[in-house]
Amino acid sequence: MSPKAFKMFDIIQETHHRFDQLQLTSERRSDLAKGLVALAEQEAKKLNSLEAIEAYRVEWLGSKGIHRRIRDNWLRLAPVEDKKWIGPLLVDLEFRIKQNIERAKSFNEVLDIGPPLDVSLPGIERALGTRHVIRQTFEELQRIFLSIGFSVVEGPEIETPYYNFEALNIPEHHPARDNMDTFYIEGTRSPHLLRTHTSPMQIRTMEKQQPPVRIIVPGKVYRRDNPDSTHGYMFHQIEGLAVDTDITFCDFKGTVEYFVRAFFGPKVKTRLRPSFFPFTEPSAEVDASCHVCGGSGCRICKHSGWIELFGAGMVNPAVYGFVNYDPERLSGFAFGMGVDRFAMMKYGISELPVLFQNDVRFLRQFP
Ligand code: PHE
Repeated sequence: MSPKAFKMFDIIQETHHRFDQLQLTSERRSDLAKGLVALAEQEAKKLNSLEAIEAYRVEWLGSKGIHRRIRDNWLRLAPVEDKKWIGPLLVDLEFRIKQNIERAKSFNEVLDIGPPLDVSLPGIERALGTRHVIRQTFEELQRIFLSIGFSVVEGPEIETPYYNFEALNIPEHHPARDNMDTFYIEGTRSPHLLRTHTSPMQIRTMEKQQPPVRIIVPGKVYRRDNPDSTHGYMFHQIEGLAVDTDITFCDFKGTVEYFVRAFFGPKVKTRLRPSFFPFTEPSAEVDASCHVCGGSGCRICKHSGWIELFGAGMVNPAVYGFVNYDPERLSGFAFGMGVDRFAMMKYGISELPVLFQNDVRFLRQFP
């Protein structure tokens, strides 16, 4: 009979019996010895928690355990020739069991594996995010301008009054500063502020680079507005600037029209309305025919048929004076658009604050 033929039940049963009642054949003796060792080894393989290890120790080496019963029931009562194999068997068993316990303990401590892994349990689902609507809108706007030769530059959100105002031809005490009231930063040696628009990057770019210039500037801007459903103290803009030796008002208008159609659709018409910015001359507000009603008038366009899109104009030659550009030789146009407004229009969002509350129920709608 092979050791495998022993059931655990049989062996443990036999350890209960006094040796002189077992009436063992010599074959059965050696089977018993081998079976006990095999059983101790086999059980040790399943020790995957500290509780299981303790139960194993109690079962084999405890005060009522198998080892103790063999010693008391067998060894003590066996004739001398049987003591010769029972003694070494006990030594061997004890050694193996202690070794198995040590091994299982260190294995469990290192891995702290706890209960065995059940691969049939459902896994942990990781929630996958989407790009934010604002980010998507930025990318859409950038894609259009990149496709017609503009490149992207970015600049600091903390600016000096010089770049935010003076070099853009907005002197101190000029009323144009009023609608761009902002946050000033205390404790710096020279005055600093949070930029109110991305236009400072017009100056920083022209200071560094000779024409031709064709850049867009995506970024965050800040104004001391009271928050309501369409205003916040922070919003996003994309600035545009093109300067070269031969840029005309036609280039300006053509670029604006191309952009509006690319973003809102081929049927949308564009209108330029006179406006004022100290750093552009002439200046314009760019309007688009209402993309909701097509121009016939609706709630969205306040029944005018037009929607105001952004401010723009031909670069005021006075600005070139601040960056050492030759106003006789150079000309260009600039624009600055509110990305949040564009996102709201394109995706039919009526409230600005939802863009910044990070409610996933809202954000998930724009995969
Ligand atoms: N910087 C202006 C604003 O924020 C927009 C603008 C940019 C106008 C460039 C003209 C040219 O209102």
